[in-house]
Amino acid sequence: MLMKNKLYFKLKNKKIQEIAFSAICEEQKNIGYYALPEQNITPILEYCKTIPERIKNIAVIGIGGSSLGAKAIYEFIKPTRKLQRKLYFFESTDPINITTLLSKIDLEKTHFLIISKSGTTVETFSIYKYIYSLKNDSKSYTFITDPGSPLEKYAHKIGASILDLPNNVGGRFSVLSTVGLVPLALSGIDIQALLYGANTLKKSFFGAGYMQDTLLKKAVFYAQNHAQYHINCIFAYSETLKYFCEWYVQLWGESLGKKQRHSAFNVGLTPIGLIGPKDQHSFLQLLMEGTRDKSVTFIKIEDFQDDIVIPDISLPHLESLDSLNNLPFSKLINMQCDSVIKALLEEEIPLDSISISKVNEGNIGALMYYYELLTSLVGELIDVNTYDQPGVEAGKIILKKKLNSLS
Ligand code: PA5
Repeated sequence: MLMKNKLYFKLKNKKIQEIAFSAICEEQKNIGYYALPEQNITPILEYCKTIPERIKNIAVIGIGGSSLGAKAIYEFIKPTRKLQRKLYFFESTDPINITTLLSKIDLEKTHFLIISKSGTTVETFSIYKYIYSLKNDSKSYTFITDPGSPLEKYAHKIGASILDLPNNVGGRFSVLSTVGLVPLALSGIDIQALLYGANTLKKSFFGAGYMQDTLLKKAVFYAQNHAQYHINCIFAYSETLKYFCEWYVQLWGESLGKKQRHSAFNVGLTPIGLIGPKDQHSFLQLLMEGTRDKSVTFIKIEDFQDDIVIPDISLPHLESLDSLNNLPFSKLINMQCDSVIKALLEEEIPLDSISISKVNEGNIGALMYYYELLTSLVGELIDVNTYDQPGVEAGKIILKKKLNSLS
């Protein structure tokens, strides 16, 4: 088993678990992300061979589901590995951010991946237009989009490379499709191991393994208590999981904040991403003593590999800190996590903890697939359409009107 998940809350309602499980089994016929762990990655690996060795940077131009997943995995693996190429993510229309990122890369050594399911996203195409004006060589660009989208037609017209994103895979569930796998494979991350991790989790869930019971219990808890515990925090005890938290916030928020399918009411679960121990010195107070509306999932890494030890130094007047001497930092950070778990349990805050053995592709693949399944299960149980996002359209329509009135 790639990861362990200990639930500290009790649940008895087996019937609701069965309803959720059969709905998810049914959903597999139409929702494409479920099948991604078993895909054939040969076409992606063949494509990667076409990118010349002189290319040292891969720049992703995309936003939301088109960038956050690859960024989460890259930032998780990068600190512990010497990778073949650097990844850069152009996600914002902030001009300072665009020029800062451009100042870091040599355009001659950079290949650009334009990733957009719809092919019409304002952020992505304003940035693309700017960069294309600096480098209008179509060989420097690959487009990843839905088959038949206007973007695919454009890419054909300029003679650039095109890779398909399956129609039935939604943006925020696309990390294990070409959207995430292509930039990651180009950077030198082992995408086969990533999918292997996700598939292990998938088999455990659908094959009545340990993850089936765990995920169903956890999903039922969130759904049954969504009126009270409507804020769901991830408290990850590693800086490497910072962008994983961003990915989780998008997945959970955009999937679960909706009008219900069979009622006139709006519901929503609010995701929060926290990093320990840093956020022990900020958000923890609110968890401990604030309104009882939050649940917490702790994520721990058991083995930090390249560990370092606190030296055996006694500081005058600070002898009370001598108990830190000779302690490996990995042990300290996990002791800090365990202490906060104990403190929150004493306050009867609902929580669970996930332990992953170490930083590698298999573990992050399993963790992300776990969260995708959990999101689908909770969405089903709180009666929302997990896979659409009508709420983000209104602002886009107003922007379009404003832009049209400029010309
Ligand atoms: O999850 C989603 O569907 C969204 O967050 C999209 O990924 C985001 O809006 C970007 O859209 P697109 O890939 O069409 O450019």
